[in-house]
Amino acid sequence: MKSENYSILFVCLGNICRSPLAEGILKNILNKKIIKNIYVKSCGTESYHVGQKADKRAIMVGLKHNIDITSHIASQFKHSYFNEFNKIYVMDNYVYQELSYFSKNQQELKNVQFLMDIVFPNQKIEVPDPYYGGNDGFEKVFNMINIACEKISEQLT
Ligand code: 4NP
Repeated sequence: MKSENYSILFVCLGNICRSPLAEGILKNILNKKIIKNIYVKSCGTESYHVGQKADKRAIMVGLKHNIDITSHIASQFKHSYFNEFNKIYVMDNYVYQELSYFSKNQQELKNVQFLMDIVFPNQKIEVPDPYYGGNDGFEKVFNMINIACEKISEQLT
């Protein structure tokens, strides 16, 4: 699947709003820093939107900030990802609980972390689900994820 040295997976519920933005933002930061050896992917815990493009509001907030997620196609979490990714960042507590449920043991959860813990360690701050809200929710989510992705890229270099 990947030839890179390090791999990062972002997980949300539907893989059409938060985690595709995280994937797009981090890829953009790494491209700008000419960091090529990191594989970045996103997925959702649920299957509702598999095969679909990102939510239009997520695409719009991305484009506003020069992040293009127009080619994103939603996919669902697979159990093998626990072992395939070096780091798995979840957006909220529900997603963390889902991954706990999918896991066979505690060892598989060792690389799973709340995304915002990168910025505020051990606080388990959630990136709120923007799906049922307005555009301002997407802007807020974008800014939270952007801060976390900047921090991830600093830790990688
Ligand atoms: P995401 O947002 O998890 O950030 O992609 C959602 C997308 C779809 C739904 C919920 C959250 N949904 O209920 O269909």
